[in-house]
Amino acid sequence: MNKSLPRVLISREQIAHRVDKLGRQITADFQGEEIVILCILNGAFVFCSDLIKKIQLPLKVEFISLSSYGSGTDSKEEVICEWDCKLSLRDRNVVIVEDIVDSGLTIKYLLQMIHSRGAKSVKVAALLFKPSRNRYPVSIDYLGFEIPDQFVVGHGLDHAQKYRELPYIGIIE
Ligand code: IMP
Repeated sequence: MNKSLPRVLISREQIAHRVDKLGRQITADFQGEEIVILCILNGAFVFCSDLIKKIQLPLKVEFISLSSYGSGTDSKEEVICEWDCKLSLRDRNVVIVEDIVDSGLTIKYLLQMIHSRGAKSVKVAALLFKPSRNRYPVSIDYLGFEIPDQFVVGHGLDHAQKYRELPYIGIIE
């Protein structure tokens, strides 16, 4: 037994069930269309890899890496794009895939960026959302779970680059 493993908040079965539903929803919403899945590195790669297997549409997968800086009360908060996707997004249906929406700053920044590139439509899929921390309201079109204000790890989410491999969402005690 490993005593240091994070406590389960959302089990692998709950995640699989929810991701299946989100995949069906995306499939239904974009019938007859092609979509671009834009995965935000690093945390969303596990959710994204599960999700695309549940979408029955022609799709492309692209990656982008973003970092946000500044504290919650700091007006100088900003997002830096560290790795940009290579595909032109003009006239594409883009589904942004994020691991967790916390303040909402990252998604707000990315939505503006993708709209400014002339995308046909932009939707957001997020595995997790912490409503009590949200300061930049964004609409999440495909949401896995709302969670309380606790730091979570697993299923791609890390704490100091650890725990991404956990098959569930957990809380470090
Ligand atoms: P936002 O820009 O404040 O919405 O922050 C989103 C990013 O913060 C996510 O992509 C994660 O990288 C990170 N993050 C926020 N909360 C957590 C958490 O509980 N666990 C792991 N990463 C988190």
